[in-house]
Amino acid sequence: MSDTRVSEQAEIKPVDAQPQPVYLKDYRPPAYRVTHTELKFDLSATDTQVHAALHLERHPDSEPGLPLTLHGEKLSLKHIAIDGQELQEGEYQVDDATLTIPEAPDRLRLETVVVIDPQANTALEGLYLSNGMFCTQCEAEGFRRITYYLDRPDVMATFSTTVIGDREQLPVLLSNGNPVERGELPNGKHFVTWEDPHPKPSYLFALVAGQLEKVEDHFTTMSGRDVTLQLWVESENLDKTEHAMRSLKASMKWDEETYGREYDLDLFMIVAVNDFNMGAMENKGLNIFNSAAVLTHPQTATDGAFQRVEGVVAHEYFHNWSGNRVTCRDWFQLSLKEGFTVFRDQSFSADVNSAPVKRIQDVSFLRTAQFAEDAGPTAHPVRPDHYIEISNFYTLTIYEKGSEIVRMLRNLLGWDTFRKGSDLYFERFDGQAVTIEDFVGCMAEVSGLDLDQFMRWYSQAGTPEIDAHGEYDYANGEYRLTLRQRTPATPGQPDKQPLHIPVRVGLVGTKSGEDLTLTLEGPEGKENLGKDGVLHLREDEQTFVFTNVAEAPVPSLLRGFSAPVKLRFPYGREDLAFLLQNDSDGFNRWDAGQRLAMLALDDLIAAHRNGVEKVMDPRVTEAFRSLLNEPSDDKAVLAEMLTLPSEAYIAEQQPMVDVDAIHAARNFVKQWLAVSLRDEFLSLYRANQSDAPYAPDAEQIAQRSLKNVALSYLMSIEDEEGVELARQQFEAQHNMTDVRAALTLLVHSSRGDIADPALRAFGEKWAHDPLVMDQWFSVQVTRPQSDALDRVKYLMDHPAFSLKNPNRVRALIGAFVGQNRVNFHRLDGEGYKLLSDVVIELNRLNPEIAARIITPLTRWQRFDEQRQALMKAELERIRAEDLSPNVYEVVEKALAN
Ligand code: TRP
Ligand code: ZN
Repeated sequence: MSDTRVSEQAEIKPVDAQPQPVYLKDYRPPAYRVTHTELKFDLSATDTQVHAALHLERHPDSEPGLPLTLHGEKLSLKHIAIDGQELQEGEYQVDDATLTIPEAPDRLRLETVVVIDPQANTALEGLYLSNGMFCTQCEAEGFRRITYYLDRPDVMATFSTTVIGDREQLPVLLSNGNPVERGELPNGKHFVTWEDPHPKPSYLFALVAGQLEKVEDHFTTMSGRDVTLQLWVESENLDKTEHAMRSLKASMKWDEETYGREYDLDLFMIVAVNDFNMGAMENKGLNIFNSAAVLTHPQTATDGAFQRVEGVVAHEYFHNWSGNRVTCRDWFQLSLKEGFTVFRDQSFSADVNSAPVKRIQDVSFLRTAQFAEDAGPTAHPVRPDHYIEISNFYTLTIYEKGSEIVRMLRNLLGWDTFRKGSDLYFERFDGQAVTIEDFVGCMAEVSGLDLDQFMRWYSQAGTPEIDAHGEYDYANGEYRLTLRQRTPATPGQPDKQPLHIPVRVGLVGTKSGEDLTLTLEGPEGKENLGKDGVLHLREDEQTFVFTNVAEAPVPSLLRGFSAPVKLRFPYGREDLAFLLQNDSDGFNRWDAGQRLAMLALDDLIAAHRNGVEKVMDPRVTEAFRSLLNEPSDDKAVLAEMLTLPSEAYIAEQQPMVDVDAIHAARNFVKQWLAVSLRDEFLSLYRANQSDAPYAPDAEQIAQRSLKNVALSYLMSIEDEEGVELARQQFEAQHNMTDVRAALTLLVHSSRGDIADPALRAFGEKWAHDPLVMDQWFSVQVTRPQSDALDRVKYLMDHPAFSLKNPNRVRALIGAFVGQNRVNFHRLDGEGYKLLSDVVIELNRLNPEIAARIITPLTRWQRFDEQRQALMKAELERIRAEDLSPNVYEVVEKALAN
């Protein structure tokens, strides 16, 4: 491209041009690299001055003659100089996305001064103000809203950052790395200079300034270095930091012991911020957290919140290696860091809590939310080949399915070999920006496995379906298992190729109830797989023959959920009841219970639709009775076993979603079980009550979840005793887990006489704590009663609510549209209208959040014609607006075809 065409293109671009996609195939190395970046911020709410000095040199692999083009958005350029010489008009061009210098030398020091407006930044990308505190969010492309830069992850530089601010207003001034100098300045200002010796891409830059207090601790690394750990919060939150600090130390230790990874700076900081688009951000040495993902206290946070904090702290810490030391060449490789890091945080949480429960929860989430994404109009491969707005690709597919792919590699290689591959990856690519091929290549190299076919997991969207059937041949003692795979068409990918799928199996003897030894008839003779083994499914259809099978078995398939697929097998209800009792794989025992409940639910959904009397399958009741009477599992697993599939999960299983039938059928099962097993639930509740001081440990969490599951059954029939227990549990105010569980059951019941005073008391007690008020919002707007939508509208005017705060939006709007299915899908279309009104507002304020909150509307194909029409009409209404690229991309996909 010639110099002049760059500016011409910018000029001829029509004002209303639609955003254009970026393609993976167009990747080129940058024209220049940045060897060192010097930044100086003079902070002010509306006119922050950013002085940048970039040490640039031509990239050795770049195409000759490429101009120097820097990214920059919403910047007001005040000064520009090369090697001390101010540039003249005509020597550079600026448009709304770039700054181009056609005749730059091969080596230069580029200086710019820009002015930005943090206060006006409601998108929360770049430098913004949150509660009077300055903070940054640069991933993926926020740095270009701070200064002109080569804002792409394959440009890595060391940074030296000076932050200047008012001494009184902004006593704490933080950035990446180590503080090297600080001092006083005229006009009541002061400064701190930070140096980050590790080359990093701009998306890992961070700055925080404000009135913050810290808690400090220390960690001694495996090589004996002392690391100072600091957690910075607003002073009223100092009593909510203990759990995050404990989680951080546990993560650091775990990564040393499990992956051999040591921390590499003398200081590690976490800052809690109230306004934040996502959970947290792994900025080098200065992680920035959504306050919801770091602050906990027994009185304000539930067990679920404690566990989330532990997981997110670990996730961001683990990025220091999987993401920061080794980063992504381009944003198409996003799952390289996110999939691997989610896998690492899931493994950590499994190790420090109940491993089977962690797996059950992760798989439930994947099967409801990620599978739905993979079946909808925004389905995309784990490595997409194009995007319009990269922020739209921080998805469940990139994160959760990406993690499942890494888990499959672990399953295929075994832990020890996988660990060797991980060591090789970190050693070979330390300090580099790399691709998914580089990662999988290390795994292939250390194992000798051919992973070429496996790579299709990264390029093919859609959830693979496996149809399985088996035959037992009594005469020959053979069991033949046939697996047929098929991946449904997804947008842009009509035809799919077979994948390499690890299917972990066991054969459970129907007489013994034991796992039988697996002898597989292979091409090279018989292969002994022990009592459970991994089958490699590579073809469209494959038959696996097991010999010496002494008794008729029931197959236990996809143990531990060894691959992210939908597996069908014609299990009879007796088979499922048998597996529920006998499967040695904890995950599959749970899954057998879910499948059994699903069969019963399917009948009841049909009965509801046909207007005939609902009849409960007695086998389900008996299965639950035996779970309650002869509990063979630990409490944590038992609580999961007693939990019915969610409405969202049930919906995923239906060809066409009937929200009302699903809701009615699930309630029917719940109430039937509550009536039939009332005494059992009552004694379970009593047996798990405890006055012990709150601790977020696995044992107590299990006990509380079991107790609260029991209470939810008792409350489903609203008999006096259940209602009284819920009331007492609420009044006892022992801890937020119990309070929130009781409050939810009361507010979702018809017992307004108890619920209303409880809600009022809760709202008054916690009016000062936004994270608790979020729970207060969510509890009310998820109630199944028909006034829920009016409550949403009413609460949107509540003083504690603001559309500018993403946590509030998620707690009120997100909870309603995502968890209150019967009311969001009201037949008068009012739920859809409410959501699109919010999307239109947020499109202006915060496009990232707007493009996420809209998700339920994009799933219109799954519903009846009447709802389809209503949902599409709302999408059309949004499309008629002047849209951000974020919302534009999602709405276009949702309305395509
Ligand atoms: N990398 C962050 C994480 O692990 C994701 C993230 C945080 C993010 N904030 C963001 C992504 C803002 C896009 C925009 O998990
Ligand atoms: Zn991450």
